[in-house]
Amino acid sequence: MSESWKHAERVMVALDYPHAAAAERLLEQLSGTGCYLKVGMQLYYAEGPQFVKQLKQRGYKVFLDLKLHDIPNTVRGAAASITSLGVDMFNVHAAGGIKMMEHALLGVQDVAPQHRPTIIAVTQLTSTTKPVMNEEIGVSGEVVDCVLRYSHSARMAGLDGVVASPQEVKRIKQQCGESFITVTPGIRPTGAAQDDQSRVMTPAEAFAEGTDFIVVGRPITSAPEPREALAAMIQSIL
Ligand code: C5P
Repeated sequence: MSESWKHAERVMVALDYPHAAAAERLLEQLSGTGCYLKVGMQLYYAEGPQFVKQLKQRGYKVFLDLKLHDIPNTVRGAAASITSLGVDMFNVHAAGGIKMMEHALLGVQDVAPQHRPTIIAVTQLTSTTKPVMNEEIGVSGEVVDCVLRYSHSARMAGLDGVVASPQEVKRIKQQCGESFITVTPGIRPTGAAQDDQSRVMTPAEAFAEGTDFIVVGRPITSAPEPREALAAMIQSIL
């Protein structure tokens, strides 16, 4: 298959690895494609800020998925530190409230980067069921209504978008506007193993719903040839 990396910057490959050495083969394979890399807590807590800086030096776009949630002043400081790493995107929990999210923006402004990172909010994690949300977290109502309420709060705080299920994209865009970014995991190419994801969409379906970025882990990271898997995925959305 001929390789085309058009739209690769809309695919975020999840680097769900325990340490940098484990991620290295994938990094070599994805070099030059222009795709985003999502670095989560597992790898960040193992390898630290230096690893993120190296990814940037190697030309990758980086979404640092650390889901900040603390008092506003602490989030401001964390956002400033994250911005100094040169990442392209990071996230906070909308459950921290509007003031906390505003302080994430202030933290970015404290550093005054030439290129401001995109800041998005986590609404309800897809692992959260309605009974858990209602009885344990203490938020009443339907999960989707909470997702929409949190999306509204993120927008009021001046953030750029939210992480969401592809099923929720249309309603979020209706409520918050087309330019409000959605980043959607739970993506599986046709015929791929669902793993532990319960409600999945293909890349083409997710983009047809209007999502801006898809997050893809195992369909690429566990593929025998990850570069080919990414190319095939991009082919399916062109
Ligand atoms: O391997 P898979 O494609 O299922 O990986 C999806 C990635 O997106 C993982 O890093 C997972 O933690 C993340 N994620 C998710 N669902 C959410 C938020 C993040 O699957 N609601």
